[in-house]
Amino acid sequence: MEFRDTAELLAGRTALVTGAGAGIGRAIARAMARCGAFVWIADLDADRAATVVAEIGADGGRGGVATCDVADLASVRAMREHTGPVDILVNNAGTGVRAFRDGVATMEDFVGSDPAGWGPVIRINFEGVLNVSHTYLPGMLEAGWGRILTIVSDAGRRGERHQAVYGAAKAAAMGFSRGLAVEVGRAGVTVNCIALGTIRHGGASGGLADPERERAMLRPYPIKRLGRVDDPAPLAVLLCSDAGEWITGQVYPVDGGYTSGL
Ligand SMILES: NC(=O)c1ccc[n+]([C@@H]2O[C@H](COP(=O)([O-])OP(=O)(O)OC[C@H]3O[C@@H](n4cnc5c(N)ncnc54)[C@H](O)[C@@H]3O)[C@@H](O)[C@H]2O)c1
Repeated sequence: MEFRDTAELLAGRTALVTGAGAGIGRAIARAMARCGAFVWIADLDADRAATVVAEIGADGGRGGVATCDVADLASVRAMREHTGPVDILVNNAGTGVRAFRDGVATMEDFVGSDPAGWGPVIRINFEGVLNVSHTYLPGMLEAGWGRILTIVSDAGRRGERHQAVYGAAKAAAMGFSRGLAVEVGRAGVTVNCIALGTIRHGGASGGLADPERERAMLRPYPIKRLGRVDDPAPLAVLLCSDAGEWITGQVYPVDGGYTSGL
């Protein structure tokens, strides 16, 4: 397809972005709406979702509120009753900046971690992707067109201290996406991931208030700034458009070059 007018890239499509009430998901949802999609803002928090729907409306776009807990299959199925089928699914909900509390990273050495904390991390970052993909995939297969995009982390591509379980859950989501891509490609459905470096937003920014700490964090980044919430949005739109038809089973880093050596 020709790439002339991005305002029409997703025209006529319905998208659903999980965890779109804040942060990276909100930025992706707003970008998709600006490119013509109707966007369901799927979030645990209905008030946040409603605020984003209002922002989309103010931008001249269209969207709706869809509440769910991605870690709970029954809640995801109830959401599907409300939204009907979608063309584009962005699995964005994850532990995200909630790993930080009062600006301080609460991530810890694996050996000192409480085993009771592993399940929730795996449920949101991995099982949530299975729950929502399994629920919305049949509609895409029936339509003969679909896009599934999952937001993962560089922590699942290279080892990161204090993020062993989180990185493992994200790596599982990447493995799942590669396998699913092979299964559903012939039906016109593509499945990809975007792997992020550190994005400066919300609670995470608090931990970076110390300029010395931020300088240390930036050392491995060829592009000398941390990510912004809207950095992943253009690639997300592209992968979920008709222009992404021949791109599947891939993991694309959006990380200022942090993992350029991989
Ligand atoms: N922030 C970063 O630096 C960073 C880095 C790498 C990867 N990521 C990934 O990007 C994604 C988004 O991160 P973020 O920092 O924007 O998230 P965030 O913590 O700001 O949360 C965004 C939204 O997700 C919702 N949410 C949380 N759990 C949910 C659930 N179980 N079901 C439905 N909605 C839920 C929250 O209510 C919130 O509105 C996550 O998958 C995260 O792992 C983030």
